[in-house]
Amino acid sequence: MSKIGSYDERVKNFNWSISEKELGYKEGDNINIGWYCSDRICDQGKADKIALNWEGLGGKIKQYTFNYVRLCSNTIGQFLRDLGLKDEDRICLFMDKIPELYLSFVGVMKIGAIAQPLFSAFGDESLLVRMDNAETTAIITQRKHVKKVRKIRDRMPYLKHIIIVDYDGKHPLQEREIAFDMEATEKIEKLDIFPTKAESPSVLHYTSGTTGQPKGVKHVHYSLIAQYLTSKWVLDLKDDDVYWCTADPGWVTGTSYGIIGSWCIGVRQCVLDVGFSPLSWYKFMEKYGVTVWYTAPTAIRSLMKAGEGPIRENDLSKLRHMVSVGEPLNPEAVVWALKVLGMPFLDSYWQTETGCIMISNYPGMEVKPGSMGKTFPGIEGCIVDTETFEKIEESGKIGLIGIKPGWPSMMRTYWKNEETYQSKFQNGWYIPGDRAYIDEDGYYWFVGRDDDVINTGGHLVSPFEVESALLEHEAVAESAVVSKPDDVNMEVVKAFVTLKPGFEQTDEMELKIMNFIRKKLSPLAMPQEIEYLDKLPKTRSGKIMRRLLHAKEWGEEIGDTSGLEDD
Ligand code: PRX
Repeated sequence: MSKIGSYDERVKNFNWSISEKELGYKEGDNINIGWYCSDRICDQGKADKIALNWEGLGGKIKQYTFNYVRLCSNTIGQFLRDLGLKDEDRICLFMDKIPELYLSFVGVMKIGAIAQPLFSAFGDESLLVRMDNAETTAIITQRKHVKKVRKIRDRMPYLKHIIIVDYDGKHPLQEREIAFDMEATEKIEKLDIFPTKAESPSVLHYTSGTTGQPKGVKHVHYSLIAQYLTSKWVLDLKDDDVYWCTADPGWVTGTSYGIIGSWCIGVRQCVLDVGFSPLSWYKFMEKYGVTVWYTAPTAIRSLMKAGEGPIRENDLSKLRHMVSVGEPLNPEAVVWALKVLGMPFLDSYWQTETGCIMISNYPGMEVKPGSMGKTFPGIEGCIVDTETFEKIEESGKIGLIGIKPGWPSMMRTYWKNEETYQSKFQNGWYIPGDRAYIDEDGYYWFVGRDDDVINTGGHLVSPFEVESALLEHEAVAESAVVSKPDDVNMEVVKAFVTLKPGFEQTDEMELKIMNFIRKKLSPLAMPQEIEYLDKLPKTRSGKIMRRLLHAKEWGEEIGDTSGLEDD
């Protein structure tokens, strides 16, 4: 049977019970992600197998076996329990990609609490909005990030514990703060794992929309069933692989496939916690003999820019499989990889809300550069009309992606926002909000998002959040935020502002405003350019016409402007 045949075979005979069976799960059983990612692997005789190779700044390295992951996560779980934390409490993980982040995630799962991972580069405002929505009970963080928590602590009465994993005793701990040193703490051999069931909540990831505050996407322990099988069939993870997922667990790829997917299969993974540089990435891959690599188009474009030189300096001969996610993967990147690395990047498409890969290219399947591939077996997808949400049968016609609800890792709701959650379903389809078409061979081709959310380097930024933060700057009277094209990040944030009387439209002011956003929100949300206007284009009803500003940036037709204030 050819490999492509095997994809078709898998589609025909698909049932999620394949995954349940391999994981030894039966409906009604307990299912706990933390147990699956550590204890079960040890029970399978892999206790001494390396689970994590970690490398940080200054060449610091650490290596953990599955047994050590089991012990550390038990110990963290017990520590959290001793603080009075329990199932369904929201525990924010606010750390760089240090080992404690990965081990805390597993520990939080084990006590049945909900992990709320947040990107460590988030500023105090980004942090506050998300923790406020979740009413987070505890945050696990590092000395270097605790300042941001202290700044907003008084506005978070629900936050009972601020846990610092690298406390050095130099300054006294402040209100609600407590130190936890994982290496130094005596390890707990046996922890009573909370009997989570399929529908018990597991992870709360925040994602940005066009309007309103970021939404908390609630996942459950049963998501494991889908993350396990997609890791096997799309990432092609096998027992002897050395796997590197470059995503930060502050985002969904970093948890679904940067922790859960590999560890529940018992696959060794690598983590590099230093800033991006092509040479350091290739060196890292050579050093650990990475075989499977899951990364993102922005990184790939940066690698392309750096050329073949750094590749030739390193031995990447162990590499056998490469997958990409998060943004459109340009055909040139696929072709480039084939030429210089001897294999293509396989694109994969999914979302925070879907919890696992929905559409992708599979090992052995013919790759059409520029296409996202086909739906995962068991996922029924289609293109629907943008107005009626009726299925479009005709190939090549652009519409919205629609996915039949019901796969294991589908989000269960938006935290405290059931109404928006319900609005994502139309005519029996889950609508991710992306435009695409399907060709005559069943391949999906991405066209664009159906909203104003900016996808910069694979990270979604809400124009609303940036506009609101801009208004908090003393000089800004009005603001409008759109994307502008960028060679590497595909899109970056651009802001248009009008200033209050008495403030001057200078370069210095532009820098001040940029910095203000970087600190308050994050480096990703920081506008790469601020353009001063004397007046923002508005409709007669006073709504800012982002569409017009967007079209200008992208050199597109401006379209109907009849609603403009003074045309
Ligand atoms: O617009 C699509 C884009 O990223 C969005 C999901 O972002 P997020 O929830 O942050 O999750 C990213 C990682 C899973 C999608 O709605 N996107 C994701 N993958 C692709 C993509 N756009 C084009 N091609 C992809 N392969």
